[in-house]
Parts: sequence; structure tokens; C-alpha cells
Amino acid sequence: MQTDIFDSYFFRRLPAISARLVGALCCSSSGQNCRYQARAQLCAFLSPFSGVLSEIESLCQLKCIMADSKQSYDQFAAHYDQIFESWEASILRQATVLGGILQHECGDKQPIRALDCACGIGTQSLGLAMKGFDVEGCDISSGAVQRAPSEALKRGLNVPFSVANMLQLSAVGRSSFDAVICIDNSLPHLESDEQLLQAAQQAHAKLRAGGSFIGSIRDYDRLVVERPTAEGPRFYSDSDKRRVVFQLWDWLDERRYRFHLYITRSTQSEWRTFHFTSTYRAVLRSELGDILTQAEFTNVRWLLPSDSAFYQPIFIAHRTC
Ligand SMILES: C[S@@+](CC[C@H](N)C(=O)[O-])C[C@H]1O[C@@H](n2cnc3c(N)ncnc32)[C@H](O)[C@@H]1O
Repeated sequence: MQTDIFDSYFFRRLPAISARLVGALCCSSSGQNCRYQARAQLCAFLSPFSGVLSEIESLCQLKCIMADSKQSYDQFAAHYDQIFESWEASILRQATVLGGILQHECGDKQPIRALDCACGIGTQSLGLAMKGFDVEGCDISSGAVQRAPSEALKRGLNVPFSVANMLQLSAVGRSSFDAVICIDNSLPHLESDEQLLQAAQQAHAKLRAGGSFIGSIRDYDRLVVERPTAEGPRFYSDSDKRRVVFQLWDWLDERRYRFHLYITRSTQSEWRTFHFTSTYRAVLRSELGDILTQAEFTNVRWLLPSDSAFYQPIFIAHRTC
């Protein structure tokens, strides 16, 4: 009876946070009856604050979600190449576009020194190193940074990789780079405009005067309007093995969403699914542009996919002095 009241009445009328807070407050009470009575009284007391409590709950949820992003990427590192039809082909294709932009921005200097501040397993660092750029990679995910050097070794490349948070790039030894790059929607993992500003300032500090900060993000100007709830599926096959890659997006509020990425692969005997989840905060091009300007970058501009042939909008920002 008490369980019925608790389940149907209170959970319908109060946000989950009330029940959880009350549960925590009452967990020292002895016995089930006492606990449910105490919950009932406290829930009644807390109900006027339910709006505030649900705000607190969603904020707490977001904090947990952002904190688990790094661990998710650690586990994802072994599978990351599988999201591409051919990782090798993507490495080369991206290096062609980004290499061209770097050469255009940095002039004839040889070799161009670039810091890839969210390198992951090395999609951009490896391709740019193959094209003769002097690249250093860092990423917050130790799992990704563990895999990247072995990928460099396989390709006969010498690329230093280290673990670093783009919010604190002083951990990276070298400075005065010709370019800092941050590709494939890495910046939107940051939680707030303040963090974006901090990352932009850190990138600025790593550049020589005249250097460029180059990054790419999803087309959030469009996505915040469309608010998609899924992406894909994409069907790939490697010889006789098949792979299905798709994402589900759960919007948490106007701008933030948790995505679930699934890679389902056929093996000799069965299908296996890898699930990866993390969160993004959709940032508009004008907002990121303003933040880059606040971080004292100049001549901030965007190259859209139609201009660059890259799959995401790319920003280019200059450090003048
Ligand atoms: C979508 S992946 C892109 C990785 C790589 N650029 C690529 O295209 O393969 C986003 C990357 O951002 C990294 N990341 C997220 N937050 C970060 C932070 N605060 N500092 C450095 N890297 C971060 C993740 O660990 C992940 O490797």
C-alpha cells in the first residue's frame, strides 16, 4: 500500500530529485514504514520547490555527464577508426584539406609546426605528419593518446603525443606553434562559454605571433533548429564483414544533447555492438566567433563545407601579436 502511494502519487507529482533527496535524507531511518512516512512528509514539504529541484537535478546530471566524457573516449579509442568507412582514406582526405588551409595560412615556412590539441587517436595528426608537417598531438583521453603513437609507428611517423586538457595547454612543452588545430567537433565537448574562452586563450598562448587557430565543429546553426534525434545508419563492409554505424541524440535542453553511438559489427559467428556515449553543447558559429575575438584572435572567419570540401564548418582565427 505504502509502495503504491509512493510510486504512483509522489513520482507523478514531484520531480525525481525530490524523491532522491528525500531518500538520502531518510536512509538512516529504521524500517520501511518509517522511511516511506518520512519520505511522504518531506516530499510534501519540498513540493513547492520542485521547479528549482528539477533545475538542480539537471545541472547535477550534466556535471556527471561531462565528467564521464573522458572515460568514454578512453574506452572508445580501440574502436574509434570503425566510425569511418575507411579510417585510412579519411586520414588522407582530411590531411589534404587541412594541409592546404595550413599552407595558405602559414605561408612558405617549412616545416609548418602544428599542435593538434584534441588529437584523439590521431586522425589529423597522422595525415598531416604524412604530408610533412611537424605535428604534435595531445588529448584529454589517455586511452586515445596510448593508441596514437602505435598508429604513428605503423606508418613510420615520428609524432609526439601526450595527455593534456585543452583548458590547460601549458602541460604541452613546446610553444610558438605556427598553428593550433582542434578538429571534428572537439570544442563542443566543453561545458560553457567560459570554458570555450579558456580553450581559445590557451590556444592563443601556444601560437607564435602571426599563427592560426583552426578548428571544426558540426553545423550547429542548422542542428539547433532541426534538433535531430538520430544520425545514420551508415552501412559499411570490409571484405566479408559488415558494419552498421548510427547515433541517437537525446536533447537535454535547448543546446545540450547526449549522443549514443553504436557500432554493430558482424563477426565469424554473431553480431557484436559497441556503444559509446558522451555529451555535446551546440555552439553557434557567431557565438564561437565572438569568443575567439574575446580571446584576442583577429580576422576570424568560417569556411563552410561548400567552400572547403571538408565535412564540417571550419574556423580560422589569427594571433596578431
Ligand atoms: C570527436 S573526437 C575527435 C578526435 C580527433 N580530432 C579525430 O578527429 O579523430 C573529440 C576529441 O576531443 C577530446 N576532448 C574532449 N574534451 C577535451 C579537452 N577538454 N581537452 C582535450 N581534448 C578533449 C576527446 O578526448 C576526443 O578525442
